[in-house]
Amino acid sequence: MSQADPNHVILRTIHLSKRYGSVVALQSVSFELTRGEIVGLIGDNGAGKSTLINLIAGALQPDGGHMLIEGQHHSFHSPRDARRAGVETVYQDLALAPHLPVWANMFLGRELRKPTLGGLLSTLDVRAMTASTNVALATLGIDLGAKVASPIGSLSGGQRQAVAVARAVHWGASLLLMDEPTAALGVEQTARVGTLIKEATTAGVGVLVVSHDLPWVQAICDKTIVLYRGRLVAVLERQASLETMVGWITGSLIPRRSVDIHASPGALGV
Ligand SMILES: Nc1ncnc2c1ncn2[C@@H]1O[C@H](COP(=O)(O)OP(=O)(O)OP(=O)(O)O)[C@@H](O)[C@H]1O
Ligand SMILES: [Mg+2]
Repeated sequence: MSQADPNHVILRTIHLSKRYGSVVALQSVSFELTRGEIVGLIGDNGAGKSTLINLIAGALQPDGGHMLIEGQHHSFHSPRDARRAGVETVYQDLALAPHLPVWANMFLGRELRKPTLGGLLSTLDVRAMTASTNVALATLGIDLGAKVASPIGSLSGGQRQAVAVARAVHWGASLLLMDEPTAALGVEQTARVGTLIKEATTAGVGVLVVSHDLPWVQAICDKTIVLYRGRLVAVLERQASLETMVGWITGSLIPRRSVDIHASPGALGV
């Protein structure tokens, strides 16, 4: 069951804007995400979804606007800054090091060490990290068995996403950002990742997830925001129909005058 708490705002963006040269990728985007809430982020190719995720994740810096995490103003200079503030990001492949074992990915940048040679040196505490990884995975109902010692690149896409979600929950993230986590997954694995995301919210994590899979978004998200040519044009409640989603994505539901006034030709999608 989701632990959504509408009174506890985890993320608030205020007029976030981003340009790439003359291309306006994001224009004055303001929205809120509360504790335990799953917010879908949809829009056509080039609408600005990844740009928004990257700004919140600290991978890009905004040209305008600002954001608050747990009520505190933040301007992240790197994803590391964002992680310190409780923001974990799951990219399709990039976040995890494919050649390292699952346990090493879980502890990437936060490795446990133990003293050797009477305290003169220290080595990686593989046993402790493996045990801890198994506990973290089990908390979300994931059992990788002996694969916990295998390179993460040898896991299926769904299993990799599962590890990434477990990692965010394990490190106590308050906000989990996911950019098309199910893009390369089959039907069953996509459903499984949806279940995992819901389980993550029971630990109080708020989730912002980009997807082009509208039925999946409809099934798991508490609300959905729609970007059109860099602008936030709609915040849809969970009962919104697929037709409504498509109408906002393609712009057909946007009042004509507002498109003419605000849309920048440079922000056109592909
Ligand atoms: N590094 C970049 N340099 C120049 N323009 C960029 C860059 N990254 C993105 N853009 C442009 O910014 C706009 C928004 O791109 P963004 O990647 O955020 O879209 P998106 O909604 O994630 O699209 P998709 O669904 O295809 O992933 C597009 O017009 C894109 O061409
Ligand atoms: Mg994208």
